[in-house]
Amino acid sequence: MTTRLTQFASTLSLLLVAQLSVAGDYLNKTRMAPDTTTGGTVKIVGGGPSTEGQQRWITSLQYEGEHFCGGAVVGSEWILTAAHCTVGETAGDPGLSVWVGGHDLFLTDQGFRRDVVQIIVHSQYNDSTLENDIALLRLASSLPDSIPTVLLPTMAVMSGAGAPNQPATVSGWGALSENGGSPDQMHQVTLPIVTNSECNSPSAYDGEINSAQICAGLAEGGKDSCYGDSGGPLWVTSGSSEYHIGVVSWGEGCAQPNKYGVYTRTYSHRDWILDRIGSNGGPTDPTDPTDPTNPTDPTDPTDPGDSCPNPAPPDPLPPVAENALDTGETIAGLSGAEGTVRQYYIDVPSGQSRLVIKTWSGSGDVDLYVARGREASPDDHDYAPYLFGNTEKVRVNNPPAGRWHITLHGYEAFNNVMLRATITP
Ligand code: ARG
Repeated sequence: MTTRLTQFASTLSLLLVAQLSVAGDYLNKTRMAPDTTTGGTVKIVGGGPSTEGQQRWITSLQYEGEHFCGGAVVGSEWILTAAHCTVGETAGDPGLSVWVGGHDLFLTDQGFRRDVVQIIVHSQYNDSTLENDIALLRLASSLPDSIPTVLLPTMAVMSGAGAPNQPATVSGWGALSENGGSPDQMHQVTLPIVTNSECNSPSAYDGEINSAQICAGLAEGGKDSCYGDSGGPLWVTSGSSEYHIGVVSWGEGCAQPNKYGVYTRTYSHRDWILDRIGSNGGPTDPTDPTDPTNPTDPTDPTDPGDSCPNPAPPDPLPPVAENALDTGETIAGLSGAEGTVRQYYIDVPSGQSRLVIKTWSGSGDVDLYVARGREASPDDHDYAPYLFGNTEKVRVNNPPAGRWHITLHGYEAFNNVMLRATITP
């Protein structure tokens, strides 16, 4: 715990210095180590304890058993959180864990604990403006069926239960007031969703909020998320399901008048998430014609969107999704046993001058295989540096357009390897 706090504190001062020189007015987006003393009479800010056993998909990210951020289960081995929560964290670090389905941080027999084997940070995450403050954590093993998944919102949800002025709930173990302590028990507060134009008004954030963010709170203040709630969910109920509509990101102070809580808008990142985790089990988005899971013809009995009288039993071991990569996106902390296969792809537009795919860092020996237009494997690929260790690089000048497939294969066990693909126009 002391190690963690020291580490966190030094990260904090570094960040503050960086922010000071870039933009002084971001000072209040404090990434503070949460105060662990219990105190304060107001809750989360302005809410109260949540009901034990509800929303068991809400997650605490912990370092050496100490809560530092929130998260949400979006797949049986995937946690959605804020990118800023992952700064300085490495997958495979034995101190880092995710605690799911619990309520009281000090009742450690509650819930389930998992290690993190992979951290995916949005490639456009901006550490000073906190744009695209979103990340996925892959767990070392799946969560049990008793842990539900929160659903990703559709356009229909965002124009119904997720629309401005509707009530949304934010939950977490963060501070109970701007200068207050943090609770042991999970807290929650229900507050109205605010339009982006209200959130951008001169008395609020004066144009700083973009369309991939969503705000919630009261003009008079008094209800908000706060330090330590970051990464946790802003969520709504629609029908009988719970939908994740925002990731706690930042705010000026906590619960101050006109200074609404700012959240990363989950709906804007729906495809980014689905590309990386496969299905979330939630409804498909009928407004998105590019969504491959949408039924194309409701009258066609073979269409997967139709109900099937004799559904085939689910595949007992679903194939691991091939993950999409954005240019510049870093996949950190890849780990696996000998023989482990991890697959990615990146879509290269025509007329690009260079494609560079590289792995580096960590220990063990993972090999990189790259193929265009088909799955890459040790037996079938266009490029394979095939070196000892993890530092491998494929560089293709004037790469032909198309889908480039990347396979990492554990020649030996490997731990904490990084992967990045970069397209240069
Ligand atoms: N950045 C804070 C954290 O790391 C979350 C702040 C949320 N602030 C707010 N006023 N809603 O925990």
